[in-house]
Amino acid sequence: MDLQTAEKEVKELHNLLNQYNYEYHVLDNPSVPDAEYDKLMQKLLEIEEQFPQLKTPDSPSQRVGGSVLDAFEKVQHEIPMLSLGNAFNEQDLRDFDRRIRQAVGDDFSYVCELKIDGLAVSLRYREGVFVQGATRGDGTTGEDITSNLRTIRSIPLRLNENVSIEVRGEAFMPKRSFEALNKVKEDKGEEPFANPRNAAAGSLRQLDPRIAASRNLDIFLYAIANPEETGVASHSEGLDFLDHLGFKSNKERKKCGNIEEVIEFVESWVEKRPSLPYEIDGIVIKVDSFDQQRSLGTTAKSPRWAIAFKFPAEEVVTKLVDIELSIGRTGVVTPTAILEPVKVAGSTVGRASLHNEDLIREKDIKIGDIVVIKKAGDIIPEVVKVLEDRRTGEEKDFAMPTHCPECDSELVRIEGEVALRCINPKCPAQIREGLIHFVSRDAMNIDGLGEKVISQLFAEKLIEDVADLYKLTYEQLIGLERMGEKSVNNLLKAIEASKENSLEKLLFGLGIRHVGAKAAKTLAQEFDHIDHLSAATFEHLIAINEIGDKMADSIVTYFELEEVKELIEELKLAGVNMGYKGPKPVSAEESDSIFAGKTVVLTGKLEQLTRNDAKEKIELLGGKISGSVSKKTDLVIAGEEAGSKLTKAQELGIEVWNEEKLLEELNK
Ligand code: IVH
Repeated sequence: MDLQTAEKEVKELHNLLNQYNYEYHVLDNPSVPDAEYDKLMQKLLEIEEQFPQLKTPDSPSQRVGGSVLDAFEKVQHEIPMLSLGNAFNEQDLRDFDRRIRQAVGDDFSYVCELKIDGLAVSLRYREGVFVQGATRGDGTTGEDITSNLRTIRSIPLRLNENVSIEVRGEAFMPKRSFEALNKVKEDKGEEPFANPRNAAAGSLRQLDPRIAASRNLDIFLYAIANPEETGVASHSEGLDFLDHLGFKSNKERKKCGNIEEVIEFVESWVEKRPSLPYEIDGIVIKVDSFDQQRSLGTTAKSPRWAIAFKFPAEEVVTKLVDIELSIGRTGVVTPTAILEPVKVAGSTVGRASLHNEDLIREKDIKIGDIVVIKKAGDIIPEVVKVLEDRRTGEEKDFAMPTHCPECDSELVRIEGEVALRCINPKCPAQIREGLIHFVSRDAMNIDGLGEKVISQLFAEKLIEDVADLYKLTYEQLIGLERMGEKSVNNLLKAIEASKENSLEKLLFGLGIRHVGAKAAKTLAQEFDHIDHLSAATFEHLIAINEIGDKMADSIVTYFELEEVKELIEELKLAGVNMGYKGPKPVSAEESDSIFAGKTVVLTGKLEQLTRNDAKEKIELLGGKISGSVSKKTDLVIAGEEAGSKLTKAQELGIEVWNEEKLLEELNK
């Protein structure tokens, strides 16, 4: 065969194989027997072997081509992957509906869809070719799991149009694949997965793509990351467009004209849920029109135009065999119920937090009681109530101790709080928990340093405070349980990399009381360097939006402590970055830029900047970005193919710039 013939043949084979794959895995309606597909694939493999230059990344032969990785690369989500607010009953849905109607009036539709219980992923296509897939991660930074996602047959490697697009959806493991997988695991004497969601997540986090390939995962796409760029005007049109491109969307969706129809849809699925071949944990309700979505906007975490109805939690009965105590990072002593293991909502539960002594008394819980448990939000196990008529008289009352079970100092109950606390700052349990917090994802995010490793290091006295983490050596780590050469090297690399984190991660990691991840970011932006923050006065702190008396007080007290000063010095010596590295918003008064105090609307396709970049840059100069054009708009930036917003701006006589003018002004 000559190259030209081979090229032609390869093209035909791609088309046929893609079509058969699509019919089988997306439409669930194969038109040829498997043997026919296998025969064509064999042919393609042979030609590709002879002409390696014809082996392109979008070739149907390339589903399992990826090599074994050392670690996943990080991926930035230019458009954040948000989560959803929850509704647990009809009233919550009606409240949601009222908020929507207050904001946009009565003229709108909802789209209801199934809430697939899997793992959110984002897929990028460049000119129609699948180039990258990532996990959600913390919403801003995920992990590059492209090789694993390629193995999912319902993910097209090439789209029906040569568009550049980012789409989002839920990867999941169908019930049948889950059962088959667990059977194999059990036969091999391995620990089975607790539920299909864990199984899907576990499969996609494997460094060897052959494992993901063997797991029969599937996906439903439910959103386009930046739909404005595709010319669709509503969520339902977006879903149709996804179908048109060759993606698999879930067909059990319904456009509803009012909340009554939504409630009816939700109720019908409470019934039908068990008959689905995959797990769902609720129904997602979204306002259809993008214009209306934009005017509703989002909070930091989730859009105001959507909500997730969570199905009522399954309740089961078990025996409470003991109550254990644990001490948290802030010294709070928490009682935990030890249960006879039972299966609930897909996984086996053996413990449930009892939170505090008051709750134990309120629910009249005794050791030995038969109790009803459920998982709140389908995740966190909780004791609902005691079945008093099942008591035998053998049950024992529980009393909280007077002294810390870990360091034996006297426990105190701070006024106004329900919790009992150990206030000994040297309490080993608190120090250990503080270390676990320091390395956690929203803090210094040190991969490979989980609870188990920290506990070992702490027990061996290799780390006593967070600065010690930066003194760990290869020799010390290699001696630990389950730590091979590769994990030690990866861990040391991760520790080293964490030195470069921006200040907010360190601030959150230090565990200053009342300072959460969001406040840490605000503080980092405001003070820029830890030395400025540690010198800040109470007055300066409370003058900042979002910082209240309690937090300000706690920050001042924290930085006055001698041991804190020493710790910061040690961290500096270790080379840990103490400065803020992210963008800093400027207030309108401070900025002398043309954007200061202006409300700007971006519309249409920008060529040189992403929309997010443009937004960030304008905000940095004191401008405000809004989603819709109104009389209050000062300026509209119109890219290619700008539509109704541009027309409206022109009607209202609002100043309009093109991208060139925007870049010119930004560069001034
Ligand atoms: S929409 C901005 N639609 O539920 C809205 N999410 O907490 C983004 N999920 O992280 C989500 N099925 O993993 C949407 N039909 C669906 C979904 C869905 C499952 C998951 C997704 C998301 C979480 C929301």
